[in-house]
Amino acid sequence: MAKGLICAGGEATRLGELTRITNKHLLPVGEWPMVYYSLALLQAAGVREVLIVTGQNHAGEFIDLLGDGHTPTREGEPLFDLDLTYKVQTKAGGIAQVVAMAESFAGDDKLVVCLGDNIFEYAEVDAIRSFVEEQESGAKIFLKEVPDPERFGVPQFGEDGEIIDLIEKPVMLDKRFTEAPSNLAVVGLYCFDSTVYDIIRTLEPSARGEYEITDVNRAYMERGNLTHAEVQGWWRDAGTYESLGSIGTLISETGANKVRKSARA
Ligand code: DAU
Repeated sequence: MAKGLICAGGEATRLGELTRITNKHLLPVGEWPMVYYSLALLQAAGVREVLIVTGQNHAGEFIDLLGDGHTPTREGEPLFDLDLTYKVQTKAGGIAQVVAMAESFAGDDKLVVCLGDNIFEYAEVDAIRSFVEEQESGAKIFLKEVPDPERFGVPQFGEDGEIIDLIEKPVMLDKRFTEAPSNLAVVGLYCFDSTVYDIIRTLEPSARGEYEITDVNRAYMERGNLTHAEVQGWWRDAGTYESLGSIGTLISETGANKVRKSARA
């Protein structure tokens, strides 16, 4: 089986006072701390060994909360039955930098990467398993239609409907664009084969000084080795304080990380 990676570092500057004494991924969303949703997604997809990368400040709180990954609820019911490993990213150098930190952990195994602030209605079990079990090599990304694509990584499509480019925050960061080339966001769930580390070694930092996950995905696309799936149900990026409360409401209405009946056990 593939290994899992949760990116829970970063500086969370958009959350102001809320992250003065804790890490963004430990803040409450609905009835859970935010990072539980990524853990639950990986667990639903059958991933057992998970690396959590977090910033230096508050890193110990993740261990206080999650322990070794065999984590019961307060009532004693089993919640997570995972094998957790932790690493510290001392400076927020980008999501690709975090993926590079998984090399010695994942070795030749495939890697399922979750951004710790992304929350999904469905756990995308079938798409992840089809990558792990059927896609021989390469990478898989997940796309979702959004009203504000310039805030995200965005695919550009050619005449035959194939992805011909991937752009990180068109207009906002990539100033070559005056509007986003599509209304789809590349969401924070990625599947990679073990060539990802060699790809990251070739990257240069972007205009915002980060090693961009979008550059990684573009490298796979250029090799003709990138597949994509559409996100089922809703998807949210919990990176701004406006979103925390409304995502909690959404989760209480619909649930999160659901597994469709059609999904293989
Ligand atoms: O939410 C999806 C978007 O996430 C994608 O569409 C973009 O292509 C991708 O670059 C990313 O965009 P953001 O700029 O919104 O990412 P953010 O800085 O908010 O970081 C996302 C998560 O990754 C967050 O939970 C913290 C973690 N992270 C981020 C950085 C920069 C790290 O663990 N280390 C880091 O150095």
